Amino acid sequence: MSHDSIDHFLSDLKSQGITLLADGDTLRVSAPKNSMTATIRQQVAERKNEVLAFLRQKNAATKILAPVADHSVQDAPLSYAQQRLKYLDQLSHASLAATSDEHSIEMWPCPGDYRIYDEILYQAMTQDQIRNDNYWQAIQHLVQDKVVVDIGTGQDVVMGRLCIQAGAKKVYAIEVSEEASNKAKLFMAELGLAERIVVLHGDALSVQLPELADVSVSELIGVIGSSEGVVPILNDGRRFLKPDGIVIPQQCVTKVAAVRLPEPFADQPRFSPMAYYYVEKIFQHIGYPFDLRLAIKNLPAEQIVSTEAVFEELNFQIQLEPEWQREITLTVTQAGRIDGLLLWLELSTMQGAMINSLTQAVSWLPVYFPVFQPSILVNPGDRIQFTNHTFFSANRINPDYSLKGAILQADGNRTPFEYRSCLYDRSFKQSLFYEKLFASKP
Ligand SMILES: C[S@@+](CC[C@H](N)C(=O)[O-])C[C@H]1O[C@@H](n2cnc3c(N)ncnc32)[C@H](O)[C@@H]1O
Repeated sequence: MSHDSIDHFLSDLKSQGITLLADGDTLRVSAPKNSMTATIRQQVAERKNEVLAFLRQKNAATKILAPVADHSVQDAPLSYAQQRLKYLDQLSHASLAATSDEHSIEMWPCPGDYRIYDEILYQAMTQDQIRNDNYWQAIQHLVQDKVVVDIGTGQDVVMGRLCIQAGAKKVYAIEVSEEASNKAKLFMAELGLAERIVVLHGDALSVQLPELADVSVSELIGVIGSSEGVVPILNDGRRFLKPDGIVIPQQCVTKVAAVRLPEPFADQPRFSPMAYYYVEKIFQHIGYPFDLRLAIKNLPAEQIVSTEAVFEELNFQIQLEPEWQREITLTVTQAGRIDGLLLWLELSTMQGAMINSLTQAVSWLPVYFPVFQPSILVNPGDRIQFTNHTFFSANRINPDYSLKGAILQADGNRTPFEYRSCLYDRSFKQSLFYEKLFASKP
């Protein structure tokens, strides 16, 4: 029996809300009431060994993140924790189906920069296996028998639960959102983890812990590493740690390169309906429409038309400057148009465990800065030279970015440019690109 058909068998079950999990040599079943028909029970029993072998090959984090109820309780009413695990599982299918064509290019807003999280966004992170595997690699090496602080734990306490699975003694899980922290508390109580994972509602900048921690774990990384405010939060978060305390993740580098948008997307850039839902949510949250920061999904790699460079480098083992400047030079590699800059993450949870938001399908998308409007014709060898200035936005947590420089062409031509990506920008449809983007609703 090939893994494909087992995969298919498991997917079929999942579509009925039934999840199978390997727990050592035991195959555990999480299923809605009355869904385990006699036929399904028989099929599961017959294929138990195959399923176990298949599930064991899947990475450790998948198992850890889905602690399910014992088979024996499947006919009892579902507890909050069971409902939540089942919901997360079902949502992963529903939300994937709800997004538009898997391969079409789409613009997206950046909800995390505005602290907008909801079921779907939390679920995207909880189900982000690449992200969670990378965190798991660091966590399993570093937290055994340790006291951990999980800063920004979210409603599913993903990192906190991984820490307990890796043998942490105690986790203090801080969450600023009241709704998310209430859900997290309920979830931990139902899983019987409330003693070991203490959920604290509050802003990490003001919360006090009853003891010092050995390790800090957090995932406050924006689509540009610093854009969700990780720098001031983790700078302050050193006070939670013993002097030799360890910080996970280790570092985050944001890379940048010039890109050409493919036609006809360049002329008709679009949000998907799902992405537009979040655009409206951000407008509602801020109180007015504006030219918000953009991410781009499914841009083919061949649209990158320059060398890449480091845009930002955050080493979380030290206190970081929240405001800084960096000189950046890109060399054009392909003749033709350039439309903007693409920024992506290389996030290292520890030495040797890296997440890349350009090459891997993760819950962060690459950012698109529509810098060159109208677009500019360039040739290989031309240089794009600029300074990026990162500085606090009005809330003094999330940064703004200001780029100023020029394209230097071989014929001596110099085309200056400036671009600002500000959290609380007031301009709306103020450039050709945003005019086209907001020309009609998706
Ligand atoms: C990107 S989500 C990550 C959630 C979870 N840790 C995970 O990995 O799935 C960031 C979380 O941090 C929370 N957060 C952001 N700033 C915070 C702060 N200053 N204090 C506490 N929580 C914060 C947000 O509400 C959100 O739940």
